[in-house]
Amino acid sequence: MILVTGGAGFIGANFVLDWLAVHDEPVLNLDKLTYAGNLETLASLQGDARHVFVQGDIGDGALVADLLATHRPRAVINFAAESHVDRSIHGAEDFIQTNIVGTFRLLEAVRAHWGGLPEADKAGFRFLHVSTDEVYGSLAPDAPAFTETHGFEPNSPYSASKAASDHLVRAWHHTHGLPVLTTNCSNNYGPFHFPEKLIPLMIVNALAGKALPVYGDGMQVRDWLYVKDHCSAIRRVLEAGAVGETYNVGGWNEKPNIEIVHTICALLDELRPRADGASYTAQITHVKDRPGHDRRYAIDARKLEAALGWKPAETFESGIRKTVQWYLDHPDWVAHVQSGAYRQWVQAQYGAPVAA
Ligand code: NAD
Ligand code: TYD
Repeated sequence: MILVTGGAGFIGANFVLDWLAVHDEPVLNLDKLTYAGNLETLASLQGDARHVFVQGDIGDGALVADLLATHRPRAVINFAAESHVDRSIHGAEDFIQTNIVGTFRLLEAVRAHWGGLPEADKAGFRFLHVSTDEVYGSLAPDAPAFTETHGFEPNSPYSASKAASDHLVRAWHHTHGLPVLTTNCSNNYGPFHFPEKLIPLMIVNALAGKALPVYGDGMQVRDWLYVKDHCSAIRRVLEAGAVGETYNVGGWNEKPNIEIVHTICALLDELRPRADGASYTAQITHVKDRPGHDRRYAIDARKLEAALGWKPAETFESGIRKTVQWYLDHPDWVAHVQSGAYRQWVQAQYGAPVAA
């Protein structure tokens, strides 16, 4: 089996669902269930013996050691993190604890386990660390996209904590020989995205008749990848990536935020027109900019494409249409997130989850 951490979050849960759709290999899912963890996303796996969920912290070395000894996974894929830049500005403590200390403890537990494996299992074992393009910092408007050799210049508490975790993973390979792989991906979007991030927030606010808050001039550029393409890239890197290497993941979809918001409004105007016949763009409101806001991210994914033959399946146009349609088709998922009911969902469905 494989051990996935953070598998109740946005990307981790999409990964678990996709993995079990294409593999029969079981998944051990370790997630702390912070506000961002939502087991309702994995409701379709209820009763599926291939998915074993454990509520717990990657920073709990004894728990991780026990899970590794009991389940003997052939790989660990580390999604678990605090992930929202705005929250990291309001308070960085959880980011330091999970992204840095938690990754350190996880690496130590995995190293101890890996060191005791028989040679054949040791050689095949992988620790795949899921990271972000934000570690590279902000790009000038005409600068080339980030390659894997771009220096780390993180600007937010979130990106600094992820950069620290990437450095730890690198060091555990170089110093201890742990067979690691690292992926640095651009902004994801798609189903099950918590509506605190730009794309789901705009869809959900638009439908609720609320303001669409665009930070500053809205000309900040992000490079967008449909979440299922990120999942396929991780599967490919796990399968064939060279140990110790870093792979940038992206789909060559740079867009200014304001364009994203206009695209969402146009799709909603078509698929769910407002009762008064006006466009959803009437709800766009420019608000105070985020402190230290990175102006531009862009990923050069040629290494992954050339070395491992990976390509995204979705264009931005096809992916954003699917995403808007998904939110229109899943009002209950959204309502439970907004009301907080998703946090009680586990108890309601299963009784208490398997706790650490
Ligand atoms: P998310 O915030 O939606 O989910 C994070 C998950 O980790 C949650 O289920 C949460 O409960 C869990 N978690 C948090 N702290 C934990 C801990 N100490 N122990 C165990 N579980 C814990 O995040 P996401 O958007 O799914 O991102 C997943 C990973 O991908 C992160 O490492 C993030 O840095 C990286 N990433 C995200 C993006 C993006 O656009 N969202 C892009 C590139 C990379
Ligand atoms: P976000 O989804 O938080 O991802 P990240 O900051 O990790 O890139 O934000 C994406 C972009 O959208 C970023 O430039 C900030 C901007 N943004 C807004 O303009 N308004 C919002 O309400 C949010 C959440 C983000």
